[in-house]
Amino acid sequence: MKVVVLSDVQKDYALGSVTVNALKGISFAIEQGEFIAIAGPSGSGKSTILNMIGCIDSPSAGRVSIDGREVDSLSDKELTRYRREKIGFIFQSFNLIPVLNVYENIEFPLLLKKNVPKKQRQETIGRFIERVGLADRVRNKPHELSGGQRQRVAIARALVTGPRIILADEPTANLDTETGLNIISLMEEINDKEHTTFIFSTHDQYIMEHAHRVITLRDGHIVA
Ligand SMILES: Nc1ncnc2c1ncn2[C@@H]1O[C@H](COP(=O)(O)OP(=O)(O)OP(=O)(O)O)[C@@H](O)[C@H]1O
Ligand SMILES: [Mg+2]
Repeated sequence: MKVVVLSDVQKDYALGSVTVNALKGISFAIEQGEFIAIAGPSGSGKSTILNMIGCIDSPSAGRVSIDGREVDSLSDKELTRYRREKIGFIFQSFNLIPVLNVYENIEFPLLLKKNVPKKQRQETIGRFIERVGLADRVRNKPHELSGGQRQRVAIARALVTGPRIILADEPTANLDTETGLNIISLMEEINDKEHTTFIFSTHDQYIMEHAHRVITLRDGHIVA
């Protein structure tokens, strides 16, 4: 089952009077349960691709399908639901909410879903906090955590709604090598056990080596 299909996707950005062709015809398919790296130099289009898959931005031409449905055919309301239910996001700079503690940060996407009762929320959050090894940090705020711990919170937050796809834009770029490898191992373990599809961008060779497959970009094209 293909969870993500991009067909000849192009993305142009108007930058003042010039047009930047960020993606110049990108096609690939990703199967459920893959663990995929998107590699390539700065400016090659990695974040732009993740934004297309995450329905954060739409292509200038070409088609994106998620879970068998063409994104273009969805209404705004359906798109919001799609993003919330099917996709989890992890960012380079963690993007946690500073005034919320670890528990509350992980709870946030469940509150957006509205129909999850408190008891079920507590049970699910507890399970993911254990999973990412932060049981002793539940009441701490992000500024009281290390970079690796913050990224663990972000991983739990991305997973808590049970999405089929996790998109991670350079999830290890702000971490030292050892912590980065720990984060990738955690992602691999979740991929292995839950069959969640992971698509992550990276510059690091040692992170790429963990991927099942590497899609390499250069200047808006796939080169390998
Ligand atoms: N909102 C935007 N407006 C104009 N140009 C943009 C915008 N977002 C990205 N670009 C341009 O599109 C190209 C691809 O950018 P993108 O952010 O996808 O690269 P990247 O591979 O993620 O780079 P990095 O490794 O530095 O994060 C770049 O030339 C960039 O300047
Ligand atoms: Mg980027």
